[in-house]
Amino acid sequence: MAPIKLILDCDPGLDDALALLLAHADEALELVAVTTVGGNVTLENTTRNALELREYLGFDHVPVAAGASVPLLRAAENAEHVHGKEGLGSVRLPAAVNTVESIHAVELIIQTLRDAPGTVHLVATGPLTNIALALKKEPKIIDWVASFVIMGGSFTRGNATPAAEFNIFADPEAAEIVFAAGWEVVMIGLDLTHQAIATEEIAERMRQLGPLGVDLIAPLATFWIDPKTGGQAVHDVCAVAYLTRPELFESKRARVEIETSGTFTAGMTVTDFDSSTPNALVPVTLDAAGFWDYVLGEWHRAASARSVSV
Ligand code: BDR
Ligand code: CA
Repeated sequence: MAPIKLILDCDPGLDDALALLLAHADEALELVAVTTVGGNVTLENTTRNALELREYLGFDHVPVAAGASVPLLRAAENAEHVHGKEGLGSVRLPAAVNTVESIHAVELIIQTLRDAPGTVHLVATGPLTNIALALKKEPKIIDWVASFVIMGGSFTRGNATPAAEFNIFADPEAAEIVFAAGWEVVMIGLDLTHQAIATEEIAERMRQLGPLGVDLIAPLATFWIDPKTGGQAVHDVCAVAYLTRPELFESKRARVEIETSGTFTAGMTVTDFDSSTPNALVPVTLDAAGFWDYVLGEWHRAASARSVSV
C-alpha cells in the first residue's frame, strides 16, 4: 500500500520531536514537509531543532520551512518551563549543516497541498498560526487536504490555564479561523493525550531500544514529568499515530468553538457533543497499550536501522 503522506507543522518541543521521529520511522508514513512555528520556544529555536532532528534522524530529503514567529494578534507565549529554553530539554544535537527552504512555511503548505490534491494529510502540533495564515491566503486548502489533525484543545480542562490547552491558548484567534474554515478538524486534545503517558515503565522500554532510545527518546520523554501522573504525556505523538492507527482511538463528532475574549477562559475549546452542526472529530478514548506497542515498535525499527548504519 502507498504510504500516507503528511506535512507536520510543529514547534519542537519535546513531544513534537517524538512526533517527528514517529513520522520518520513508520514506513506506512511519508513525511513530505516539516513547517515550524513559534510556540513552545521561539521560532528560531523550533526551526533549529527541526533542522537538527532532520540531520540526526536522517530525513535529509524532507524540506523544512520556517513560519510565523508570533501569534496573529497577541504577544507570544512559551512553554520553556516544560521544554527547556532551547526546546529539547537536556538533549543537544549536532549543529545542522543544511538550512531552511527559502519559502515561508505557509507557502510550502499551500504548494504541497495544491500539487497533490486529496493525497496529503496535514498535522499541526503547535499553535495554529501557520494554518490560519494558509487558510487566509488560500481557502482551497480545505478541499485539497486529505485530512487535518491537530494536537490541541480539550473538552474538560486546560494546561496553560484551567480552561485552555497551550496550543490554542497561544493563538486563539488563529484557532478560531481554523475551526471555522469548513473542514473537519480532528481535535486530539488533552483528554485524549493524558491517556498516553510515558511512565517510568515506558521510559525503560525506550532505553531498551539502544543508543537512539538512551540518547534521544528517553531523555525527551522524561525531561518534564507531570507530578499529577508521574510521567509525561506525549501529546503530539498521538496526532501522528492517529493517521496510521485510527482504530486505537474512539472518537465522537462535536462542534468546537474557540473562546477568544474571556478574561479567564481565552483559548478554551468549547466542545458540544450534541451539536447537529459538527466541525470536529474528537478522539476521546485511547487504547494506551496498543498505542505504546505501535509507537515503540516503530521506534525500535528506526533504532535498529540506525545502529546498523552507524
Ligand atoms: C501541547 O503544548 C506543547 O507544549 C506540546 O508540544 C503540545 O503540542 C500540549 O498542550
Ligand atoms: Ca507541540
